[in-house]
Amino acid sequence: MSYKKTSGHGEWSSRFAFILAATGSAVGLGNIWKFPYITGQNGGGAFVLVYLLCVAGIGLPIMMAEIMMGRRGHQDPISTMQLLAHQSRRDPRWQYLGGLGVLAGFLIMSYYSVIAGWSLSYIVKTLFGYFINTDATRVKHLFEQMMANPLQQIIWHSVFMAATLLVVVRGVRAGLERSVRFLMPALFIILMLLIAYAMTSGSYQQGLDFLFHADFSKIDSHAVLTAMGHAFFTLSLGMGSIMVYGSYLPRHVSIPQTTLIIAGADTLVALLAGLAIFPLVFANNLEVASGPGLIFQTLPLAFGQMTGGWLFGILFFILLFFAALTSSISLIEPAIAWLTQNRQLSREQACIRAGLSCWLLGIAVVFSFNIGSEYTLMGKNLFELLDYLTANLMLPLGGMGIAIFAGWKMHTRDAERELGLSAPLFLIWQFLCRYLAPGAVFLVFLHVVGIL
Ligand code: TRP
Repeated sequence: MSYKKTSGHGEWSSRFAFILAATGSAVGLGNIWKFPYITGQNGGGAFVLVYLLCVAGIGLPIMMAEIMMGRRGHQDPISTMQLLAHQSRRDPRWQYLGGLGVLAGFLIMSYYSVIAGWSLSYIVKTLFGYFINTDATRVKHLFEQMMANPLQQIIWHSVFMAATLLVVVRGVRAGLERSVRFLMPALFIILMLLIAYAMTSGSYQQGLDFLFHADFSKIDSHAVLTAMGHAFFTLSLGMGSIMVYGSYLPRHVSIPQTTLIIAGADTLVALLAGLAIFPLVFANNLEVASGPGLIFQTLPLAFGQMTGGWLFGILFFILLFFAALTSSISLIEPAIAWLTQNRQLSREQACIRAGLSCWLLGIAVVFSFNIGSEYTLMGKNLFELLDYLTANLMLPLGGMGIAIFAGWKMHTRDAERELGLSAPLFLIWQFLCRYLAPGAVFLVFLHVVGIL
């Protein structure tokens, strides 16, 4: 981020730069690919409501905590935790919380890159006119063909991985700021166009009902866990991504205000994606619970039929690729930062090592969709297992640790000064970090293992 401009607008620019980078991290495949498909799998409205409650009650306070800890610690998540624990005279083992985060980011990255590869492959498919005047059966068939073809997926996964590493090896900031600045408005416009199309050609009322009519009989403790896990995933919380970005934040910038902007933009993009997709799902009699292929089996129908759809389709998948890129950078950056700072590797070497292992794991993920699909653990293939382990367990656990550290272990005075909240608001934040966020995560965990 280009800080320290000497002009009078330097301050504003740095705050803006941070918002761009953090929004770039938050808005990604989680909003456009994952949110619609898990909403479809978990029955719609009630799930969306739980997700929104988790964003507001757990996500917001933890995001403030994570940014604040990053700004105080100024390093990779592990060293930051070490330093903060030392400063407040706490157990040095708090650094393992950072370690958990570095590992979670690495694991998420391995499958994130495969899915981002799908979006690359769809840029080309759209470009070659595969979807012009297409119908639901053909679109489904095309997706299944891709899933059955490991080589095609491995190639695109490799391209995406290489793109991420190229950005990361050069150092993240300048490019990131520039790309997010045009990405967000463009993404917004395309989503609006898609919604307009869905309003006129899709089953709009049915889509709205599905998203916003809360029928709690449709969800169980696993759905609640998924909604909570997704609140962490979509806000990039619980693993140090936002902590690393927070470490570049100048002192005078208000953390609560920027948190609201970032979380607001992130939630808006997810809801817009839902509004664009579900009317199409119902109008074409598609299966709402069809899983990770949902957007790849619905949006091409819109692109195939709407005026200008070919161009919008290409633009959409390019934007999805960029949105994924600005997120993947933040997934791998904590690992790179740690390798360079603690393992005495150069940035290049760290990128090669982390990138290569992530790439290999990603190849195994590709196989879990085809030749290796029969290898399962607890009924989950490797992709599902990694997703479950990271989003539903590691991120909430990491988030709980962050909330507990910020709420209980840091000196209240430090936290108060750093956040700059008025006294009553600070008390609310502290209550959320001390009791509500860790308590909610704990209760949901207990429910899922069947103790409650
Ligand atoms: N939030 C991103 C998305 O929704 C993914 C992501 C980036 C992430 N950094 C993260 C998820 C850190 C969890 C933790 O696509």
